[in-house]
Amino acid sequence: MEISGNEEIIKEGLARLAVPKLEYYKRSDGAIEPAWMPVFYNPQAVVSRDFTIIFLKIAMRNKEFFFVDALSGTGIRGIRIALESSGRGIVNDVDPRAHYYIKKNIELNDLSSKLEAYNHEANTLLNTLVFTGVLVDYVDVDPYGSPVPYIDSALKPLGKEAYLGVTATDTGPLTCTYPRKALIRYWNKCVKLDFEKEYAARLLISNIVLRASALEIEATPLLTLLHKYYIRVFFRTRRSATRAHSTLSECIGYIWYCDKTLERGFVRNVEDLEDAKCSDGSKPIPLGKTWICSLYDQDTISRSLAISKDTYWVSRESLKILELINSEKDINTPYIRLDKLCAALKTNMPSITTLLSRLKEAGIKCSRTHMDPRGIKAEADHETLSKFILDLAR
Ligand SMILES: C[S@@+](CC[C@H](N)C(=O)[O-])C[C@H]1O[C@@H](n2cnc3c(N)ncnc32)[C@H](O)[C@@H]1O
Repeated sequence: MEISGNEEIIKEGLARLAVPKLEYYKRSDGAIEPAWMPVFYNPQAVVSRDFTIIFLKIAMRNKEFFFVDALSGTGIRGIRIALESSGRGIVNDVDPRAHYYIKKNIELNDLSSKLEAYNHEANTLLNTLVFTGVLVDYVDVDPYGSPVPYIDSALKPLGKEAYLGVTATDTGPLTCTYPRKALIRYWNKCVKLDFEKEYAARLLISNIVLRASALEIEATPLLTLLHKYYIRVFFRTRRSATRAHSTLSECIGYIWYCDKTLERGFVRNVEDLEDAKCSDGSKPIPLGKTWICSLYDQDTISRSLAISKDTYWVSRESLKILELINSEKDINTPYIRLDKLCAALKTNMPSITTLLSRLKEAGIKCSRTHMDPRGIKAEADHETLSKFILDLAR
């Protein structure tokens, strides 16, 4: 294995990785700028890759599985899947420079019996697998920007019961900085919300669930991660028109939102939006269709946390995020930004820790959220939550 003077070998998880010398691509703040590199490698995305491995270890229960890492850059994700879980598969990128690194890194990690390096356009590769009858257990879609152009092709080669991991970095449209793009990409109206990051995840999920349903596939999110500049969702997929129909009926619905008081709620049917009221007498803003069920599968999260605690190479940051996800996993109500609620109530913001312990003492389920450090999740209506906040301000 030859490493040129412009390259170095780094470690991530159990993998050794040949990459262009990272110090050449440092911004003035010291962070690596992957977009300047001849091949994309972002050290900050280690959390996204840790989560991929943990998720696959749980979903596949140590059984051998076949995966496609469709947009792989240096090959790091696919290589870690092969080294750290029971996967074997295809590691692909359309860019010949990325293909060079994928081949090099497969050799460096001695994985040529488990991995094949491909140099194809992702949709073409995934559609070719369908036409050649190859069934895939896990497809990973980790593009620049929106994953939408790859979703239909990623769903098609999946077997009867399989898994899909998707990243979106187009948080501008998803959090409604660019509402027109949100509408054309995600088929949804958006407004600025205090829980915009959670709404972004729900928009992405509903779009994928609807696309899957059109192919008679049920897609269910089992693990949702919002970290830095990206959203990552892991789905279980099952080929069944009946299941797709029941998930759609139960989990695709509407959100109503009061932009002055910050009250919000979910409804399944459009006609139920009529019953929603804001306490200041104004009319709620209707949003949707969107995903209104849980962002997490409780069992997947508890087991992910347990496995991560026992796995020495899982980064401390990933573990910290998983702990937060574990504490918020069974509260489906969208988080509320405490600073914004306090501004609406014209009161000072209490300490989040104190507020949460008061709510818990009163038997109200509540938690911080990994999605926003100023957000809390609580199974309490607006009046109750406001009362607790105002009591603490006295
Ligand atoms: C965000 S990077 C992938 C990062 C990688 N998954 C990781 O964990 O480090 C996106 C990659 O997609 C590749 N790409 C872009 N369009 C593609 C396409 N249509 N088909 C296959 N690869 C594509 C780019 O060359 C780039 O390497």
